[in-house]
Amino acid sequence: MKIAGQRTRSVWKSEAGHIQVFDQRKLPFAVEIFTLSSCADAEFAISEMVVRGAPLIGITAAFGLALQAQEDPSWEALQAAAIRLKQTRPTAVNLAWAVDMMCAHLSKCSIGSRAVIAFDMAWKLLDDDVGVNERIGQHGLEIIRSIAARKGRCHILTHCNAGWLATGDWGTALAPIYMAHDEGLPLHVYADETRPRSQGSLLTAFELREHGVPVEIIVDNAGGHLMQKNLVDLVIVGTDRVAANGDVANKIGTYLKALAAFDNGIPFYVACPMSTVDYQIQDGCSDIPIEDRGPFEVLNTPVAGPEGTNWMPSAPPGVGACNPGFDVTPARLVTGIITEHGIVSASEAGLAPFNQQS
Ligand code: MRU
Repeated sequence: MKIAGQRTRSVWKSEAGHIQVFDQRKLPFAVEIFTLSSCADAEFAISEMVVRGAPLIGITAAFGLALQAQEDPSWEALQAAAIRLKQTRPTAVNLAWAVDMMCAHLSKCSIGSRAVIAFDMAWKLLDDDVGVNERIGQHGLEIIRSIAARKGRCHILTHCNAGWLATGDWGTALAPIYMAHDEGLPLHVYADETRPRSQGSLLTAFELREHGVPVEIIVDNAGGHLMQKNLVDLVIVGTDRVAANGDVANKIGTYLKALAAFDNGIPFYVACPMSTVDYQIQDGCSDIPIEDRGPFEVLNTPVAGPEGTNWMPSAPPGVGACNPGFDVTPARLVTGIITEHGIVSASEAGLAPFNQQS
């Protein structure tokens, strides 16, 4: 994807050989680079949301493990790093998936070969993610094409950021939007602001604008009204974890959009790679762990600037706050899941054929 017309990915190697990412805490007012020099840097980047979004968290953790293998490839050190990385954020399953996959392979490799193999695996994970997202985009494009052909327009609502900044490239929910725009389809995006961290206004709107896609930011509570007024044709969101039964965890507020879409007969799609499906979890509404992000982000409002985010107090001192970072949308509200293998139903029957763990 592009920043100021320049093609880029979310992770790259600098000329000096450093693994680098964009510091998403500074966007959109400053495009700053954050260097991952150690596993501790990767842990910091994930927990402090220098990087965020389920697939990118997984890729960053893979590079964290590779950096650990470079520093100390002993099995004890790798296992300790794996535990620390998995604790950085709880909801996105891609994190544990990437770390477990790397560890399973590295456990069989000689100690002297681990660092090279771990870096190869991390770069492959990045390449695979880009390829998978491109296929997600192509499948989702069919949905936009058919709505545009029927209605002569396609107004799409999205929540949080599930664009290229949340992945290696393309994004999940935004991949079909980029492709439809490039094809000249008449589309327009409503980006939910996504309080408390404002990923919608700071990141989604930035990405779409850089690509030239028409976008309007809406406050998180506007979606239901716009749907009722027939101003939304399609909802596409990303996800941090899908349960075996098709329940979908995503950024807090997604469930309310799914309810409003259902009530107004608007298709509600979730876009994700199959690596986001957690077949160990049978019932997402009961069993997906939800990150509790503490009161600070609710009691203060982010004011982003080139120096980073300033948090301004926006509640009376002494008042508490409850801040679940994610919610779970029951499968019955999901029209379909757009994956690299096509659009599958959000159900056990729809997802089971892709379970490689069974
Ligand atoms: O807390 P964040 O910013 O990491 O949350 C991200 C989301 O909820 C995304 O929509 C989700 O990870 C899908 S990313 C392709």
